[in-house]
Amino acid sequence: MTVSNQVPAAPTPDAASGRQTPALDGQIAVVTGGAAGIGAAICRALSRAGAVVVIADLNEEGGRATAASTANPEKTFVHAVDVSDPDQVHGLIDGAVTRLGRIDLLVNNAGVIAVAPLETGSLAVWRRTFAVNVEGPLLTMSAVAPIMLRQAPLERTGCRGKIVNISSPAAEHGRPPVPAYGASKAALNHLSKSAAASWGERGIATTIVYPGNVEDAMWPRVATDLAAVEGRPASEIIQERLAGTLSGRFQKPAEVAEAVLFVAAFRGLGMNGRIVWSEPHVSQA
Ligand code: NAI
Repeated sequence: MTVSNQVPAAPTPDAASGRQTPALDGQIAVVTGGAAGIGAAICRALSRAGAVVVIADLNEEGGRATAASTANPEKTFVHAVDVSDPDQVHGLIDGAVTRLGRIDLLVNNAGVIAVAPLETGSLAVWRRTFAVNVEGPLLTMSAVAPIMLRQAPLERTGCRGKIVNISSPAAEHGRPPVPAYGASKAALNHLSKSAAASWGERGIATTIVYPGNVEDAMWPRVATDLAAVEGRPASEIIQERLAGTLSGRFQKPAEVAEAVLFVAAFRGLGMNGRIVWSEPHVSQA
């Protein structure tokens, strides 16, 4: 009998059980705006994939309801926060890292929109939109990056951390009813690309995800507000919007969540600085 002096690798739990380890097994994720809509679907998808999730939202009660609906409510935490407030954001990130030891994934999903055309919209709307949609991600990213940069890369992804910023196709084209929103998402894209350029080489991948027209989230509310401003039925506005899509239907929040999951689980830095469309689209000039 030949005796090998090689020590066989210890069997991994996967090999022993024959089961696949969930894609984000044990990873720590912070999701802003996780109490409702797309953010709630993202929290459920990440939890199903094995992540420990911190739901960070203004709406604490909604956050608790989302936590209860996840695959692992005991591994889902709720932190009440206004992402536009620097002290509250530091409390969120410090609290998460103290309690959970590291942060592997930050999803900046919290966002606001208001129908406010250029000639009638107020400066207050413009400032609040930018405070939540741009300053919020700026605050969370600058608080989380030093923590991620100190962490060892995860074996599974090869990254020290991932940042996913939920932007919008509204960043790409002028949209007369919602100019502050479109401008804030264009600014978020630029901010994301600066983050990708700043931290990519050091192991943090920053990626932009575009939802499409999502049902059960902010878009149906926008249609109602648009209808009031334009003096025509919301159903007509919705039909027009859907006619411009390839699928001809609203997207479900869970479909956006799948795109986020794909980016979170992606191995390596190939998604750094990229825009990922979660809905099929034709590019427009
Ligand atoms: P939603 O309005 O249904 O949910 C937004 C969540 O963010 C809520 O739970 C709200 O409490 C929270 N939030 C708002 N301001 C906050 C703040 N200052 N601090 C902490 N939490 C805050 O919105 P929805 O539709 O789920 O949108 C999520 C993201 O997706 C947003 O960034 C939005 O711009 C983007 N998006 C949505 C689309 C849609 O059709 N619903 C299309 C394209 C982009």
